[in-house]
Amino acid sequence: MNNYIIYTTVLSLFVLISLIWLVVALFRRSPSRKIAGAIFAAEALVLVCFYFFYFTPRRFPRNYLTAYPPLPATLAQTATQNGFYIGAAINRSANPTYAELVPREFNSIRPENATKWRRMLVNGKIGKYDFTEADAIVDYAIAKGVRVRGHTLVWGKFPGRTYPKELDQRIAETGDPAAELQQILGDHITTVMRHFKGRIKVWDAVNEPMSMDGPDLDKNIFLNTLGKDYIAAVFRMAHEVDPSVQLFLNEQFGNYTGEGVEVFFGLLQHLKESNVPIHGVGIQGHNIFKTHNLDEYREFLTRITDLGLLVEITEFDARIRLFEDSDDPYQAQGDYTTAYAVACIENPSCVGFTVWGLSDASTWFDSIPPFRWMLPNDPLLFDTELRPKPAYHGIKIALKRRQPR
Ligand code: G3I
Repeated sequence: MNNYIIYTTVLSLFVLISLIWLVVALFRRSPSRKIAGAIFAAEALVLVCFYFFYFTPRRFPRNYLTAYPPLPATLAQTATQNGFYIGAAINRSANPTYAELVPREFNSIRPENATKWRRMLVNGKIGKYDFTEADAIVDYAIAKGVRVRGHTLVWGKFPGRTYPKELDQRIAETGDPAAELQQILGDHITTVMRHFKGRIKVWDAVNEPMSMDGPDLDKNIFLNTLGKDYIAAVFRMAHEVDPSVQLFLNEQFGNYTGEGVEVFFGLLQHLKESNVPIHGVGIQGHNIFKTHNLDEYREFLTRITDLGLLVEITEFDARIRLFEDSDDPYQAQGDYTTAYAVACIENPSCVGFTVWGLSDASTWFDSIPPFRWMLPNDPLLFDTELRPKPAYHGIKIALKRRQPR
């Protein structure tokens, strides 16, 4: 399962080579054409079977529908009573599920895209903001007494989707790129934080500063222009605008040990030693190609909180197909999700657990290749009919044991 990309690529290469051989042999009327034809047919068959195996939608038994007696309190009530945030990402204010599940089940929300820099700009034009959608999401939550986590002031990956593409052009054309970027960043952070002042009290100041390609910082426009201290600069600018706001560094980890993790801790250490106003670390917690080693993850949480930082799980999801070899995949997914959340619940400095979507009906996996073809993804706490899944119950029970900070 985890290696399907390697399998597909290698198999496709073999099929291609055999096809070339077959075409050349046919063209030359070579006697090897029969062998080439047979090999090509066999390989193509394996490839088709392979695709069929991974890309045919599956159905797994939903034993959870009868397995759990309802508990009187909701997830949000239990979390609030025990000093914890249980959150969900909201993709749009018009999602009818928003009013159905918030505030009943979630006492915290996080706009999935609406508070990203590019998303708040009219036609991607720097400085021209339209806060309509972000306000609709945020105001609904605030009116219901639900906390909002802002996501995100600065994110250097995927130009044009996360930050405005115009920025690349402006920096390329100016005589003093560092001054220009400082100015634009400062204006952006000030405008956005002032706009949401009093409503968003926790922001991801910087999202994903680490590279996806190796154990290093991501070489994005901010790093290339301002050096690695762009991260410190963003935190300082944000703190200056509103010192009462908690500022987090948000990151996704494929593994919770290894060289990349050490680089990340080096960065945290550097920020702490430089008295940068960082309050916590957001661990995204996506389970995309594999599940995580939970012992390593627990230790990782402790390493962060031992630095005197808060921590939150900010974007958890775990695709059901990571559990398809189990006898009861939904239960296995629930057990894993519960264990992941419990490690946070048991650490007094881990203050919240947010899932990346309200229900299995609105998960980003359903819109990105190849996962949109590897259905179902079903990675969240509620199914598409908003029925609670096993982790819902597991987390609720665990929350009752939460120790106050
Ligand atoms: O809504 C527009 C649609 O009108 C347009 O036709 C279409 C054409 O591409 O784009 C649609 O917007 C897309 C949006 O998702 C809604 O589906 C954007 O292109 C696409 O870039 C955007 O992707 C988001 C991605 O971040 C990039 O911002 C995902 O929804 C969102 O789930 C994902 O979230 C990230 C976190 O912010 C950071 N951590 C990883 C996580 C998952 O990638």
